[in-house]
Amino acid sequence: MGPLPQPELNEKLAAILTICQKMNSERDLGALLDLIAREATNLLDCDRASIFLLNEERTELWSKVALGSEEILRFEASLGIAGNVALTGDTINVRDAYKDRRFYDGIDGQTGYRTRNVLAVAVRNQMGEIIGAFEALNKRFGAFSTRDEESLAALASHAAIAIETAQLVGELRRSQDELVEQNAHLWREVEIKYSTHGIIGTGQKIQQVVRLVERIRDSLVSVLITGESGTGKELVAKAVHYTSPRARRPFVALNCAALPETLLESELFGIEKGVATGVAQRVGQFQKADGGTLFLDEIGDLSLTAQAKILRVLQERVVERVGGRAPVPVDVRLLAATNKDLESEIAKGNFREDLYYRIKVIHIHMPPLRDIREEIPLLANHFLKEYCRETGRSPMEFSPGVIRNLSGAAWPGNIRQLRNEVMRLAACSRQAAITEDDLWEGIPTPGHDQPPPKVVKAQSLKKAVAELEQRMIAEALQGTRNNQQQAARQLGLSRQGLINKMKRYSLAG
Ligand SMILES: Nc1ncnc2c1ncn2[C@@H]1O[C@H](COP(=O)(O)OP(=O)(O)O)[C@@H](O)[C@H]1O
Ligand SMILES: [Mg+2]
Repeated sequence: MGPLPQPELNEKLAAILTICQKMNSERDLGALLDLIAREATNLLDCDRASIFLLNEERTELWSKVALGSEEILRFEASLGIAGNVALTGDTINVRDAYKDRRFYDGIDGQTGYRTRNVLAVAVRNQMGEIIGAFEALNKRFGAFSTRDEESLAALASHAAIAIETAQLVGELRRSQDELVEQNAHLWREVEIKYSTHGIIGTGQKIQQVVRLVERIRDSLVSVLITGESGTGKELVAKAVHYTSPRARRPFVALNCAALPETLLESELFGIEKGVATGVAQRVGQFQKADGGTLFLDEIGDLSLTAQAKILRVLQERVVERVGGRAPVPVDVRLLAATNKDLESEIAKGNFREDLYYRIKVIHIHMPPLRDIREEIPLLANHFLKEYCRETGRSPMEFSPGVIRNLSGAAWPGNIRQLRNEVMRLAACSRQAAITEDDLWEGIPTPGHDQPPPKVVKAQSLKKAVAELEQRMIAEALQGTRNNQQQAARQLGLSRQGLINKMKRYSLAG
């Protein structure tokens, strides 16, 4: 057969080019295989075309059974004409399939199709490796020509690129989906395990609190939360509310210590319009919390009169507004917190015992941070992440030295102080890593209750700080009988940090 006349050749090339463009915009492997089969059928004027691909182990060939079908046909890679092409790379053009010994009629048997003639070419990727075979069946008129062989080979080489791209995209999508799924799963785990509404801490003491919060989630018992300032009492109160059946009703927090006695009553219970000239009606906190939770912070600071009034509301479930005539019914769950030891307040006559037992159905005690130092790394990192998220800064991290320092400090202000310190460090640091250089002596150290040193007014800040540093180091060394490890810990420094400073101030022996 002679070369094609120029116009016909151009037509074929144009057709192949168009097919290539279509193939390159198809990223889904199944749809791509359908597309290639359809276009090849038109191009070669035959009845069917299929691409067979070798599996990863190169032991099997697989193909879609028919256009548009999701069914997959698999057979041994050595079988049939497609198998032969895939193994040898030869082009095979057979006029009468059933007379060719390489033909495997098992597939016709499976699909119910009757193959007359077959043209098959190898599909090679850009590295020249065979990735499968491209097979056309049953030429409409007569048999496949050499031109058909060339066309199919041209198509196959372009198809290979599109197929590999689609396979790669498919794999990427799958691993991307997997990662997203895994990530979401991990986050769920972390959340379930370590935090109930933001209560962070993996140690026994915090986990006990979390478990207790979980255990009372369905009941509406009163809860008394005790602990020093900044230990997370309000956080826990919110967790109790937001895990309860009242989560969607109001959570109203009132700091009893911040209220002057004269305002307390109207604040708590409300005030009727016109009690005094110019007084507008005001709804009290109890009523604002109706159906929800009222959190009385610093309840130990309430006067005995106020305590009596609150007890009455709890017993009778009504509030009387200042200047009001009819009592108003309220349905409020009470949570209370204090940093005082209420039992000793009772003993001193400062707190009503009956109110105490009423609010203390469940008692949750929050440990001071110095007793749960093991949580400091986790908490510090948590607050750092929070800072970055809120300010939109890219992720930052602490150097191990900083974590050591933070873990060793005194923290009289507990977790609130740690949080503030982390925020300050993050805000001051211009790099992604917060290092010991960013620390200053502002970190509270054990033994902070020494009298504040006198600082001479006219001194420069630098000099004054240096003086204070020297004095504190000297005292810490004295107090620990020159145990550098212990002194460093007290000062919130690493041992090396202490040694460096001792050298700088010539304190080293
Ligand atoms: N276990 C904890 N996990 C995460 N954040 C905490 C934890 N405990 C306290 N905090 C944070 O520390 C700060 C002070 O807590 P807060 O509940 O106001 O303490 P308190 O009421 O005891 O003074 C808040 O920003 C709070 O979110
Ligand atoms: Mg508080």
